[in-house]
Amino acid sequence: MNYSSTLGFKTTNSNTMKHILITGGTGLIGTEITAQALKKGYAIRILTRSPKPSEGNVSYAFWNPSKGEIAPEALQNIDYIIHLAGENIGDKSWSESRKKAILDSRIESTNTLLKALVQPNNVTKIMVASAIGFYGNSESSTPFVETDGSNRTGFAAEVAYAWEKELDKLSTLGKTYIKGRVGIVLGNKGGAFPQMYTPAKMGVGYLGDGKQVFSWIHLTDLAASFLYLLENIEGNETFNLVAPNPASYQVFSKTLSKVIKMPILLPFVPALIIRIVLGEMSNLVLNGATISSKKLSDKGFKFHYSTLSEALTALTGK
Ligand SMILES: NC(=O)c1ccc[n+]([C@@H]2O[C@H](COP(=O)([O-])OP(=O)(O)OC[C@H]3O[C@@H](n4cnc5c(N)ncnc54)[C@H](OP(=O)(O)O)[C@@H]3O)[C@@H](O)[C@H]2O)c1
Repeated sequence: MNYSSTLGFKTTNSNTMKHILITGGTGLIGTEITAQALKKGYAIRILTRSPKPSEGNVSYAFWNPSKGEIAPEALQNIDYIIHLAGENIGDKSWSESRKKAILDSRIESTNTLLKALVQPNNVTKIMVASAIGFYGNSESSTPFVETDGSNRTGFAAEVAYAWEKELDKLSTLGKTYIKGRVGIVLGNKGGAFPQMYTPAKMGVGYLGDGKQVFSWIHLTDLAASFLYLLENIEGNETFNLVAPNPASYQVFSKTLSKVIKMPILLPFVPALIIRIVLGEMSNLVLNGATISSKKLSDKGFKFHYSTLSEALTALTGK
């Protein structure tokens, strides 16, 4: 088997430097965590299906979770793991085969990682990404906190529920295990925001009745929170990774229109149209839930973007 991994960090002080392995590190969140971690003096190894030659303090290692394959040296010298890998839940419509791929990719990648971690290694902390979708949809203004269970409403909640069951097997390895339930990530290079910005620039308002709550987090804060928790948490704990001010879709739409100085010409797109266009995936945008960030703040994490208007001003460069 040719793993074609390209390990070997080009560092002068690699003995003292902490090494982080990021699964799915080529994606939206992993790219930002990598950039911030490098600035903080970490060396990064990205576990990917498509490794590249290493560059500076970033190296790549091959895996193919669908076949349970992982380069034998992938965990060599690794101190911390950030586990993000999984098929994107929002970029293609939810056919039965797509839904299977979304779930299977998370189960298989976690399983493959678990098998590798059973072998001797120096990893002390593992941080995993789950999603706030875990809790399910809710119209209540009482925020979900980390000890709440899942109401398992809809596919996104079912995936997160099954995925967490698998992820939590990583907590049995005797290492610090931190689980982040990631909110709707607002970043320029992928995820929800570019898909919302394009219609807003044409004067389109919210989707459905606009009352659905949008528990968002700016990508910069999300990546910073991963590194903050890795550095500051010693026990096994779960955190909601969302900003302190969730907003309804109506508020999001009004705030964005104000920030980009584009009047809302079409106040809303009826839910029926969204359902026809997106099918079952419309649940992602027509439903929401209020999620609490209190635990993260109580641990001392400081948000750079705590209000939507700050986040949207930064994202749109206005
Ligand atoms: N973005 C959000 O708003 C959001 C919200 C909640 C939770 N999350 C969760 O956070 C994690 C990272 O999100 P992201 O936005 O950075 O995702 P992303 O941009 O879609 O990147 C995910 C990465 O996972 C890897 N991957 C995809 N399919 C895979 C498969 N079948 N087997 C193994 N690896 C696979 C890919 O890496 P390679 O192609 O290099 O292998 C990809 O770069 C995901 O699990 C996501 O569900 C994201």
